[in-house]
Formats: sequence, structure tokens, C-alpha cells
Amino acid sequence: MTYEHLLVRRDGAIEHLTLNRPDVRNAFNDEVIAELTAWAATIASASAGARPRVVVLSGAGKMFCAGADVTWMAKTVDYTEAENVRDATAMSRMFGALDTLPVPLVGRIHGAALGGGAGLAAVCDIVVADEQALFGFTEVKLGIVPAVISPFALAKIGRAAARELFLTGARFSAARAKEIGLVHAVVPAADLDATVSAYVADIQTAGPEAVAAAKALIPAVLRASEHEVTDLTARTIAQRRVSTEGQDGLRAFLEKRKPGWSGR
Ligand code: COA
Repeated sequence: MTYEHLLVRRDGAIEHLTLNRPDVRNAFNDEVIAELTAWAATIASASAGARPRVVVLSGAGKMFCAGADVTWMAKTVDYTEAENVRDATAMSRMFGALDTLPVPLVGRIHGAALGGGAGLAAVCDIVVADEQALFGFTEVKLGIVPAVISPFALAKIGRAAARELFLTGARFSAARAKEIGLVHAVVPAADLDATVSAYVADIQTAGPEAVAAAKALIPAVLRASEHEVTDLTARTIAQRRVSTEGQDGLRAFLEKRKPGWSGR
């Protein structure tokens, strides 16, 4: 598949996905949304063996992402309400598809992640940021709201930080982003790639099916009611223990050898 606004490069088991509209600081419009949604669908529909083990999401040029394209959003004044809802629904589906991608998504944040760019950070499983990077849920400064990204942002930062940051639209540092759970590691720019690579290498030592199951487990447990949760968690571990991959991992440990997924 070819993309106009994304750079997609597979390096062994690692997929590098780069937002590529540097002239507008990787702001995303309806075309970028369609491309990201299509890209996520190709990953989700690929057979387990054809999937990358991990995806690194980054931005070309000066920064990670300046959020939704303001020029595109301003034009929506000419849309009908139904067209506007359809448009925003497509954006919501894109975030949902990235959030539930069956492989780990590692965000590499440099420069800034603003508005929907901070939303993209929120749907990454692991986020590494340059210590100089700026974050912000800046929508209210433009007279709009961080609506579509709110479920994903809230899941990461919680309501106390959201009340402050959604309502002020203030820009905040990478250190603050880490404090509120949006970012996992803050490093000098020179260490950004090495830190991303260390996370990527760590993920590659884990069983790929187990990693996907662990990712799916988190929202499932959070959604489950008190009486569903025991059954859900017991069934999940029961399936994994007897699976080919689970048996390989358990026996590899006991036999002091590497599991079959190593080096794949
Ligand atoms: N949508 C559309 N275009 C955007 C954009 C966005 N979200 N963010 C930046 N751009 C465009 C600018 O309009 C400018 O275009 P021009 O060269 O035709 O004038 C170009 O990208 C470069 O932006 P500029 O502000 O000159 O670059 P900078 O590096 O000094 O600053 C930002 C970059 C991202 C800090 C600044 O542009 C900004 O604050 N953007 C708005 C971010 C935001 O609030 N996003 C939330 C949207 S919901």
C-alpha cells in the first residue's frame, strides 16, 4: 500500500510509521486520518506471522505532530451537521484503531505534540519524549474542545490533570507529561533513538501473542464488572498457559534455552 502523508518502513520485525507533512508540522486532515485508519487495518488484518512485533510512531521534520489541521477544520463550517459528525467519527475511529492495534505502538516525541498530537501520544503504549518537547491539549485556545481524543487522553492522565489541562489549553513540559502518565521516558534529544530502541528490543524478547494478549487484557479488565473479572482473567491465563507460545516460553525457561520467537 502506498501513502501520500505517511512514511512506512519495515525493518525486520519493526515497523516505522512516520507522519509526513512537515510543512504543517504533521497536522492531520481527513486524508491523513484515512491513511492512518487504512494502515492500522492492514496491521490488524495481517496474519500473526506477517505482523510487525512493534511499531514506532514518529513525526518528520521539526516536531511530532501539531494536531488536527486547522485549515481543514475551519472549512468544516460549510459542512452540514451530518457531514461534520461523519468527519469527526472518522477521526474517532482512527484513534480507536491505533489504540487497539494488536502490536505495541511506541511513540517517539520530539518538538511538540499538541491537540490531536497529544491524543496520538495517548494511544501509544509506550511514549519516549525529548526533554525539550512541548505538550498541550490546546483545543480551547482555538475555541474548540479535545472531544475525540478525550477518552484516550483521560485513560492516560486521569480527571485531575484533564480538568487543568483541557480547560486551560496550556502547553506543558515533557517532565510534566511524564508526571501525569502521558509519557514514560524523558531523555535528552541525543538519547531519543537509543531509548526507543531499548524499548523495542525489550518488546522483541517477549512472546508476540502474549504481548498482544496483555495489551487486549488491559481495556478488557477495566471494562469488566466485578462478577466478570475473575472469569475473564482466569480464562486469559488458562488459554495462554496451554498455547503453543506459552508452552514454548515456559519450557524454554526450564530448559535454559531461548524460546522459539527469539530473533524472529
Ligand atoms: N494545522 C494546520 N497548520 C498548522 C498547524 C495545524 N495544527 N500547526 C502548524 N501549522 C502550520 C502553520 O500554519 C505554518 O504554516 P505556514 O508556513 O503556511 O504559515 C506551518 O505549519 C509552520 O508553523 P509555524 O507556527 O510557523 O511553526 P513553528 O515551528 O514556529 O510552530 C507550532 C509550530 C506547532 C508550535 C505552532 O504552529 C502551533 O502552535 N500550531 C497550533 C498547534 C495547535 O494548537 N494544535 C491543536 C489543533 S486542534
